[in-house]
Amino acid sequence: MTNSNQAIKEAAAYINSKSNIIPEVGLILGSGLGILAELIENGVTISYQDIPHFPVSTVEGHEGELLLGTIKGRAVVMMKGRFHMYEGYGPETTAFPVRVMNELGVKSLLVTNAAGGVNTTYEPGDLMLISDHLNMTGTNPLIGPNDADLGVRFPDMSQAYSRRLRALAKETAQSRGFDVQEGVYAGLLGPTYETPAEIVMLRAIGADAVGMSTVSEVIVARHAGLEVLGISCISNMAAGILDQPLSHGEVMETTERVREKFLGLVLDVIPQM
Ligand code: HPA
Repeated sequence: MTNSNQAIKEAAAYINSKSNIIPEVGLILGSGLGILAELIENGVTISYQDIPHFPVSTVEGHEGELLLGTIKGRAVVMMKGRFHMYEGYGPETTAFPVRVMNELGVKSLLVTNAAGGVNTTYEPGDLMLISDHLNMTGTNPLIGPNDADLGVRFPDMSQAYSRRLRALAKETAQSRGFDVQEGVYAGLLGPTYETPAEIVMLRAIGADAVGMSTVSEVIVARHAGLEVLGISCISNMAAGILDQPLSHGEVMETTERVREKFLGLVLDVIPQM
């Protein structure tokens, strides 16, 4: 039921009853960028728990609110707090908000995340434009009967991450005086960080970064025909690269350290999306 067209429409209708904004850009911002919420103008905040059929976030520090408003004149809808499969949600549940965003009128989606650097030339603090992903979750949000109103049965994923938006983000970064990496994001279930052996495997199969979100959201976005821009903040080197344990503390520290840079890029890109 949660993912039926009717549930999507009921969620969107509730949101529309609370806000006059018709958003064009959807934002799902990972750890560290929630502060962008404060920069939304003319904003309306809606608690996830008030939206029919919406899942409720369980992770500490991830708030459960949907914000609608404008950023530099662009109408946006932003998720403050996203859903991860490691919380126990199915892939279709983690991506339900993307379907609702689509129903609200969104044409393009910006997703960001914190990720471990698998590519050894990367450094913590680098920003990586996602050029493609490896879905290593072992599942897919589109499993089950396909509703043709939501998209085709077998969606093309050959350009899941828009070339146009990547070029735009790269130029924007350069005009702000820094360079970005571009690479492949491997999405795993978590919640454990990977073993060193898993990182060796991921590198061998073409991953540049690894994380625990994003892939199901992007699959559903592409199913709905949304143009996607994905940006990872390399928050740590992946397991086994450095002789030190991984911790959520390190991830938070790095995302905090590069927040201004990341925020500046995102703020400049949104009006052009
Ligand atoms: N692995 C998986 N997810 C992550 C990592 C990592 O090293 N860093 C931040 N999110």
